Amino acid sequence: CGIVGYVGGRPALQIVLDGLRRLEYRGYDSAGIAVIDNSVILTEKKAGKLANLEKALVERAGDGISVGSTAIGHTRWATHGGPTDRNAHPHLSADGRVAVIHNGIIENFARLRAELEATSVEFVSDTDTECAAHLLAAEMRALREAGAGAGAEDGPQLLAEGMRRVVRRLEGAFTLLAVDVEVPDAVVAARRNSPLVVGRGDGENFLASDVSAFIEHTREAVELGQDQVVLITPAGIEITDFTGAPATGKEFHIDWDASAAEKGGYDYFMLKEIAEQPQAIADTLLGRLSERGEIVLDEVRLTDQDLRDVDKVFIVACGTSYHAGMVAKYAIEHWVRIPCEVELASEFRYRDPILDRSTLMIVISQSGETMDTLMALRHAKEQKARVLAICNTNGSTIPRESDAVLYTHGGPEIAVASTKAFVTQLVACYLIGLHLAQIRGVMYADEVAAVVSKLQATPDALRELLGGMEDVRALARDLRTASTILFIGRHVGFPVALEGALKLKELAYMHAEGFAAGELKHGPIALIDEGTPVVCVVPSPAGRGVLRDKVVSNIQEVRARGARTIVIAEEGDDAVRAYADHLIVVPRTPTLLAPLMTTVPLQILACEIAAARGHDVDQPRNLAKSVTVE
Ligand code: G6P
Repeated sequence: CGIVGYVGGRPALQIVLDGLRRLEYRGYDSAGIAVIDNSVILTEKKAGKLANLEKALVERAGDGISVGSTAIGHTRWATHGGPTDRNAHPHLSADGRVAVIHNGIIENFARLRAELEATSVEFVSDTDTECAAHLLAAEMRALREAGAGAGAEDGPQLLAEGMRRVVRRLEGAFTLLAVDVEVPDAVVAARRNSPLVVGRGDGENFLASDVSAFIEHTREAVELGQDQVVLITPAGIEITDFTGAPATGKEFHIDWDASAAEKGGYDYFMLKEIAEQPQAIADTLLGRLSERGEIVLDEVRLTDQDLRDVDKVFIVACGTSYHAGMVAKYAIEHWVRIPCEVELASEFRYRDPILDRSTLMIVISQSGETMDTLMALRHAKEQKARVLAICNTNGSTIPRESDAVLYTHGGPEIAVASTKAFVTQLVACYLIGLHLAQIRGVMYADEVAAVVSKLQATPDALRELLGGMEDVRALARDLRTASTILFIGRHVGFPVALEGALKLKELAYMHAEGFAAGELKHGPIALIDEGTPVVCVVPSPAGRGVLRDKVVSNIQEVRARGARTIVIAEEGDDAVRAYADHLIVVPRTPTLLAPLMTTVPLQILACEIAAARGHDVDQPRNLAKSVTVE
């Protein structure tokens, strides 16, 4: 989601709207704004793109909303509750005195909502955010009744204290911004595991999810730490921790130009999205496992009994999502011990697959709108299969038509070639596999917990990997004139090889093929010529030593025929060095989870080769982000 706050001497509406426009890439399924003017909070919110909100505001020109000088605004990427006017932010407290916007997920929202409803608070939306508005209003009332803040100068402090009391009760990840009608010249915000920066102006101050929102107005910014509350007034910026102890943010100067702003300083959205993968994985894991190890599905019309009755899994998808499905097959068959087939949606829909009530059909789609995948879903439903969707786009068609949904919280993906959506799809597949294994009694809770803890370690491992990609960039520049690049892998390394080749075709318009390494000698090896680059994905020696040794033999085979080998291997696998013309080392990860690591250098390789060849990385020729036609 995109978040903007302003307080100062100018009309806030336009400043916040301009900021939201710059943040629209972060989410655009609804937008809203709240402005304080003359002791009232005026709000407007609309489903759909920002343009819908702007249209509604045109009709209110001259209204207080266009003159008030304190405002908060939001563009939404829906998680809780579909993208409707009602669910759009800001959310108001029941008395209309407090308005709140929020990015993230409040995990204990069901409990808080029940508690508030027991005190006869009526909810008007399905969002987790609304609870924060009601809680803040209650805290503000309690603080005022207790006599704090009798003097007007204490108003902003009171608001900060109210916010601290609220956030101490919240679990999950959040950035919250709030205004209170009785404190007209202040905006308060809190940050936990969700982005928020402060812009320092002259007689005015800003808050936003990233600096692009206020770069037109100021280049001086303050980065907040985790678990901090910040209060902005026209006169200043005050930061504390959640207990109220004073804290300091990190001051910095923004030196990139405004056009790079939406891209957060990266040259391409794709590079930005690649860099966001650790966070995307963490967000997808967040709040997904109950204490009993059950996965928390977003929309569920399936019971545990339905899942116990499953005797076969079918995974259907297109493009990169299909590659995620291929990895899932290895994991599901290993953990759950039931047959799992994976197929391209365009093939599945035109044959006569055998499915019934006890078949679980998993459809994977970033956009939730891919025509072939949707048709495959309908084809499966006609045969009474249960359908579980893995999707990144709240409220899209595929999740709507499915029996249950697990949303990947990857956030908006703008670049056509999928990166962060892919790794979050993998995470969703792993969660589903582990959940099935647990409820069917194939794995004990502690075995599931052991895998989950490895999964939870992947964001940090990936951050470390991303920090050391300079060699891959240099290699990319070197490979830009190659006429073909081949990719080989075994087991889960096979779909990684396919994905590496697909990325290169999509972005660099270069001939590339991925193969199962074991199939080399049945044909593809004839392609190897002196200097042909071959990317080899080597499995972990720790998990399945045999597999790793087989791939190493394949590397020797291609090398003997003149190939230039680019080897991706695990940290500590020193023996592989002897066969690598270029070695890319990835952190240690259990075999089944390794694609979360090994895919990433291949994304960077393709992106950098494409850039070196002068292509438009974010919008490659002939492709579309979501293919809603056959
Ligand atoms: C298009 C995109 C790919 C994507 C595929 C499936 O071809 O360019 O990046 O993997 O569609 O899209 P979906 O939204 O269903 O995951």
